[in-house]
Amino acid sequence: MATLEELALLHTEVRGDALWHLQRLALSWRLLADLSFSDLLLLAPIANEEGGRFVVLAQVRPTTGQTIYVTDLVGQVVTEVERPLVTRAWKRAELTEGEAPVLGSKDRVRLHCIPVRHRGRIVALLTREAPITSVRRPGELERFYLESFDGLAHMVVEGTFPFAREEVELEGAPRVGDGVVLLDRDSRIRYASPNAVSSLHRMGIHAYTSGVGLAEIGFDESAVDAAVRGRIPVIEEIEREDASVLVRVIPLLEDRRPAGALVLLRDVTDLRRRDRMLMSKDATIREVHHRVKNNLQTIASLLRLQGRRLDSPEARQAIAESERRIRSIAIVHETLSREAREAVDFSSVVKPLVRIVEETVATEEGGLHFEVEGDAGEVPGEVATSLAVVLNELMQNAVDHAYPDGGDVHGTVQVRLCRRSGELLVDVVDDGAGLPENFVLGETSSLGLSIVQALVTGELGGTIDITGTGRGTHVHLGIPLAETAATQVVEPPS
Ligand SMILES: Nc1ncnc2c1ncn2[C@@H]1O[C@H](COP(=O)(O)OP(=O)(O)O)[C@@H](O)[C@H]1O
Ligand SMILES: [Mg+2]
Repeated sequence: MATLEELALLHTEVRGDALWHLQRLALSWRLLADLSFSDLLLLAPIANEEGGRFVVLAQVRPTTGQTIYVTDLVGQVVTEVERPLVTRAWKRAELTEGEAPVLGSKDRVRLHCIPVRHRGRIVALLTREAPITSVRRPGELERFYLESFDGLAHMVVEGTFPFAREEVELEGAPRVGDGVVLLDRDSRIRYASPNAVSSLHRMGIHAYTSGVGLAEIGFDESAVDAAVRGRIPVIEEIEREDASVLVRVIPLLEDRRPAGALVLLRDVTDLRRRDRMLMSKDATIREVHHRVKNNLQTIASLLRLQGRRLDSPEARQAIAESERRIRSIAIVHETLSREAREAVDFSSVVKPLVRIVEETVATEEGGLHFEVEGDAGEVPGEVATSLAVVLNELMQNAVDHAYPDGGDVHGTVQVRLCRRSGELLVDVVDDGAGLPENFVLGETSSLGLSIVQALVTGELGGTIDITGTGRGTHVHLGIPLAETAATQVVEPPS
């Protein structure tokens, strides 16, 4: 479907600022449709036809009443024959009212043609298409709404609506159906709709009577003041008595002078409460990860103390390895405690993992270098935990077995990370002695590679390839990752 701008450029003479004026009108005119319980159309004359034909640039339906137009009229052409009233309103440049056919049907509507003025010139027409009313006397709400609509329609003709600096219709901004208070030029209440009265009650304001000033009933008037003085709409959230109410004030102008205001109220108390609960839920998850990390660090410290009391080098070694494994898991929880999500940027986990292994390198010269390349992307928390343990084993093996000389070690251990569609590839490559002869992965009874196998093929459903020649050992891991699971933002249960 063509946009308002495309249609205007294609069929009409409306350009530049005038076009922007119409676009702003179409962003804020739901208010007019709701106050008038009517469908609205925005019409502009087709270029060089002197008001003989018009094109429908935009259309809005009321949320307070029934629509007449179930079909979309945008882009349709309206002729003088069909609707002489439109041409008359355009030529006279004044508000015109009468009966006219419903577009595309034999029914009839009460038609109000409202010239849209921009910088002194009429640039388009706004039509209000209302059902022909029965004789039923309108109620109080209808009367005040229609009166407000008339006020705003006059502003459209004067060129003061839409506002030059109108906020674009904000998502979630209060609408007519949320509650309306109509104020006179001294900011005294003339009318409050039932929903508005409910919102006032929520704020602890019960003493509402018409003719009373807002300040007198204890309502913070600052938004109203700002809107009326600045002659622009103002949105503000007021918190009172545990209630949160979003307030949108639209100044009403007559001859460009303040003549009152419309205050739309939306009770957002429940919405805000839910926001706060979600926020505290996130904070709770982070706090839990923080505590798990602290507990794991405590366990690691206890093991270290235990190890120091042992004489057997084998026992010491076993304890030291356990301590390293636990610290690797703690790193993942630490990262998770800093994130609002249940996923971690795995690359940020690798550096601290390298540090754990580096601490165990005996040489003072630091002849063994670790290099980390590539990007692992986001990885779900549980996967990251297993992977951290696996990486720790593989890097530790390079330190322990690839450079057996002890004293003067020279070498480079590379960790390469790569994310492909649905898969994380990890390579740990050293340039050391290579694997012992007759090495078969499945047949090692040693703990380190058994853990690696159990986690990679069992836990993560991935694959391991390990090759070792005289020029070093290369371990290649392929870990399947559902793209969505890895990058998903965890939704708390509703
Ligand atoms: N990067 C490597 N370079 C040389 N040999 C290795 C390497 N990684 C593993 N190995 C061999 O595989 C064996 C099993 O490793 P692992 O299961 O981790 O047990 P551990 O490290 O306790 O010996 C090692 O003893 C070693 O012989
Ligand atoms: Mg090992």
